[in-house]
Formats: sequence, C-alpha cells, structure tokens
Amino acid sequence: MIFDTHAHYDDEAFNEDREQLIEELKASDIKRIVNVGANLRTSKNSVDLSEKYDLFYAAVGVHPDDADEVTDEGIEILRKLSEAKKVVAIGEIGLDYYWNKDNMDLQKEAFGRQIELAKELSLPIIVHSREAAQDTMDILKETDAGRTVGGVVHCFSYSPEIATKAVKMGFYIGVGGVVTFKNAKKLKETVEIIPLEKIVLETDCPYLAPDPFRGKRNSSLYLEYVVKEIAGLKGIDENTVMEQTYKNALDMYRINS
Ligand code: NI
Repeated sequence: MIFDTHAHYDDEAFNEDREQLIEELKASDIKRIVNVGANLRTSKNSVDLSEKYDLFYAAVGVHPDDADEVTDEGIEILRKLSEAKKVVAIGEIGLDYYWNKDNMDLQKEAFGRQIELAKELSLPIIVHSREAAQDTMDILKETDAGRTVGGVVHCFSYSPEIATKAVKMGFYIGVGGVVTFKNAKKLKETVEIIPLEKIVLETDCPYLAPDPFRGKRNSSLYLEYVVKEIAGLKGIDENTVMEQTYKNALDMYRINS
C-alpha cells in the first residue's frame, strides 16, 4: 500500500485522461492521495476531488508564487474550504526565492498568516521551500509550527543537516522522484541519515517524474521507483518502506482509519 502525500491531479496535464488514470490508480497499490492546492482556485479543485473520489484527500493553501492572494478575504476563503470533511492540511505554503526574490516580505507574511490559520484549525502544514532555507527555518521556529501543528517539508531540497533540524522541530521530510536522479547527492544522503519513521512519499505530479521517466508527466503509479531507491539507500526491503511511510502519512495527516 502506498500513500502519495502530495499531488496535483487537478492540473491541466491530466485533462485528457484524468478519469481513466484514476481508475488505474484505484486498481494499483496507491491507496490514498492528498491533492494539494497552490492557490485559491486549485484549493477548491482539491476539495472537489476529495468529495468525488474515495482515494483523495485535500490540502488547501496558497503557494508563495501567489502570495498576493493571502488577503483577509483569501484567508476567509481558505477557512471556509477547510470545513470540507476530507481537508487534512494547510498547503502548500512557504517561501520560494528561486522564482521570486522581489517580494520576500510579502511571501513571509503570507506564509506566517497561513501558519496561524493552520494553528487555529489544528491542521498540519505542507511547506514548500526553495532557495529560502534560512528564512523558512526562522519562521518555523518563531511560530513553533513543528510542535503545535507539524507537517512536512515537501520536495526536500536542502542539506542533510537542515533535514535533521526540521525533523527535530517535528516535521516529516517529503521524498519524491528527485531521489532517483543520479545528481541528487544531497537528497540521497538525507534519506540515508533520516529515520524511515520521518519520511513520507510524494509525487508532486504532474512534475518531477522519477528515472527512467524523468521529464515526462509524473503520476502516483511511478512511486514504486521512489520506494525502490529509498529501500536501496537504506538497505531495507521495499515492503518495509511502503508500510512505514504509509503509517507516517496517516499519522502526519491525522487520518485514523
Ligand atoms: Ni506541489
């Protein structure tokens, strides 16, 4: 059984064959998927998917690219969306200085406000952080988010040292297709040293397909390649990786069934 903790099946890349692919997922080892919002529109899409299919849960939140949506009204919309039964997290939220360096203050404010919302709703957070390690860790520390709500640093791209710090704070580390890339040295090291009890599987599909599908459209069906890589790095069998990461995801999203 596999739990995909981070996917975007509402993306237009799936418009042609979404229904058919979901049927294939249902017949596979993929048992649960959290579809993650990246702005107000895709947060609503995520809730819709969770209401339509047993397989899906939803996360609602605004990615740093759309930080300007996090107004009083935006927060109100997220709060309303979070009332849906299968909303299990606030995300994806965070900081991205790779794409945007000119609105750092706005990004930090949007991140902070959504952490406060997560605390108010007692929901874990899904953190997106790219080229913004120091500011991300500072905000997580100041808000005490790891201890109060917890969650995941998704698509982890920093050093093993930062991963260790994030785990100490109370976060899981999200590992996806990148771990299979030959040049992903830091992430491979991170997987080696972080306890399996702190790793969750994710695709971030349609992005970041693992080798040998790198560059193609990703889907949860390819998570078996990620499982295989983690098992190899840790010197354990694939079933152990699937079972433990499945349990981790249930714990992280506080799903108790
Ligand atoms: Ni994502």
